[in-house]
Amino acid sequence: MTTPGWRIVPLDEAPQHAEQVTDWLWQAFGSENSRAFFASVIHSSLQQADLPQTFVALVGERAVATVGAWRCDLISRQDLFPWLAALYIDNPWRGQGLSEALQQHVMSWCRARGYRQLHLWATFADYYERFGWRYIGEALEYPDKPVRVYHRSLAAD
Ligand SMILES: CC(C)(COP(=O)(O)OP(=O)(O)OC[C@H]1O[C@@H](n2cnc3c(N)ncnc32)[C@H](O)[C@@H]1OP(=O)(O)O)[C@@H](O)C(=O)NCCC(=O)NCCS
Repeated sequence: MTTPGWRIVPLDEAPQHAEQVTDWLWQAFGSENSRAFFASVIHSSLQQADLPQTFVALVGERAVATVGAWRCDLISRQDLFPWLAALYIDNPWRGQGLSEALQQHVMSWCRARGYRQLHLWATFADYYERFGWRYIGEALEYPDKPVRVYHRSLAAD
């Protein structure tokens, strides 16, 4: 996807940013000792499998944001898949529409592969609703963190 400001590519087309993406996810979603966990998540998304997939938004050659399409992002709800996961925008690039562009990119990518629905979870309310996600209830992120689960149909718009 190309816009005047950024382009969104699969991480395997820009693997030099894998360390940066790992650090973002570790800092945003991890704990002190979990960098290796996020490194393995990113590594697994570079194995040419359909899922998981990591995307990176580039401005010039600089990585500014990332998002993933994952098979599973919530162990307690393995009945649901795939997931939009690990959405992260570097601070200077927030508030400029990149979040919506990355959401749309994952939706289009999943739709093109025949997936009919998409899920995500968040700890906060009133954000994903703005983009058309439907809140479908609470669940637990392992082991005991309550999270909000969202769904959207990928039927042709
Ligand atoms: C969440 C995130 C992707 C949003 O990107 P963004 O470019 O800042 O978002 P947008 O410009 O689309 O929207 C900004 C709005 O989102 C709100 N928002 C962002 N993060 C929020 C949060 N954690 N809780 C509640 N609201 C949040 C802002 O307050 C702002 O509200 P306003 O429009 O009323 O001022 C970005 O802040 C980010 O990368 N955060 C760290 C990682 C993260 O939390 N990812 C989401 C995991 S579900």
